[in-house]
Amino acid sequence: MNMKLEELSPLYEYQEGMPWNPVEKVIMERRSIRGFKKEPLPDTMIERILEAGRFAPSAGNAQPWRFIVVKSPEILAAMEKDAVRVIKFFMFLLDYTRTGFLLRLIKKPLAKFYIRILGNELHPVPFELMSQIALGKTKVFHDAPTLILMVEDSRGVSCPPMDIGICGENIVLSAHSLGAGSCWIGLIKVLMYLPWWRKRFGIRKPYRLEVCIALGWQKPKADGAVPREAQVIEWFDRGLNDAPRYTKQGVKS
Ligand SMILES: Cc1cc2nc3c(=O)[nH]c(=O)nc-3n(C[C@H](O)[C@H](O)[C@H](O)COP(=O)(O)O)c2cc1C
Repeated sequence: MNMKLEELSPLYEYQEGMPWNPVEKVIMERRSIRGFKKEPLPDTMIERILEAGRFAPSAGNAQPWRFIVVKSPEILAAMEKDAVRVIKFFMFLLDYTRTGFLLRLIKKPLAKFYIRILGNELHPVPFELMSQIALGKTKVFHDAPTLILMVEDSRGVSCPPMDIGICGENIVLSAHSLGAGSCWIGLIKVLMYLPWWRKRFGIRKPYRLEVCIALGWQKPKADGAVPREAQVIEWFDRGLNDAPRYTKQGVKS
C-alpha cells in the first residue's frame, strides 16, 4: 500500500497501488490536537463542520444526537475547573499508587472494586490521564475555544453510542479537511456527576452526554502518527466449508 501523502489520486477511482485520494489523506493525517489558539473558529465554519455530522449514517436513520456548541470562555473555564475537581476527587479515592502504605491498604481494594464495575472507565489509559490532570500536568479540555457536546438520544435504534461515534468522526474529519484541529474528549462525562451541568445543558433521560469534541485552530504542530496496530484480516471468500485465509494490514497481499 502506498503511504505517500504528497501526491493524490482522483476521487471515485481505484487502481492497485495508487496514492491515497483526498478523503483517504484526510483520514490518514488527522491527529488529536491538544493545543489551541485562543481565537475560535468562525461560527459559519462550525456550522459547516456540524453539517458533516448531520449527514452521518445512523441505525434506522434515527439520528440519535443533539449538538451543543460551547464557546463562552466563562462557561469553558467553569467546565474545566469542575471537571478537574471531580477528577481530583476520584483520584483521591482511587489512586493507590501515589499514597503511603496504610492508605494503600484501604484504597487498593476500593479501586479494584470500581475497576470491576466500571471496567472501561478505569482502564489504565484514562486512569493515567486522570492522574496527570489531578497533578495539574495536563488539562481536561486542552484550552479549546469551542466544545461540541455530542448529546446522545438513548431512544435511538440498536446502538446509539455507535451512531454518536460515527457522527463525531464525520465532524473531526470535516474539521481536519478545513484546516482546523480537534480532539475527542471522553472525560467530559465526569461533569455529569454534577447536577448543575446536567441542568445547564438539559441532559436528562433519554439524553446522555458521554463525549465531546474540542475544536479550534491548532497551536503547536501535532505529533507524528501515533502507532497503529496492524490487525490480521480474516477473509471468507471461498466455499461454505473452506478455511479462511489471512492477510496482515499494511502488508501488500
Ligand atoms: C471516544 C474517545 C474519547 C477520547 N477521550 C479523550 C480525552 O478525554 N482526552 C484526550 O486528550 N484524548 C481523548 N481521546 C483521543 C485519543 O487519545 C486519541 O484519539 C488516540 O490516542 C489516537 O491518537 P490520534 O487521535 O492522534 O490518532 C479520545 C478519543 C476517543 C475516540
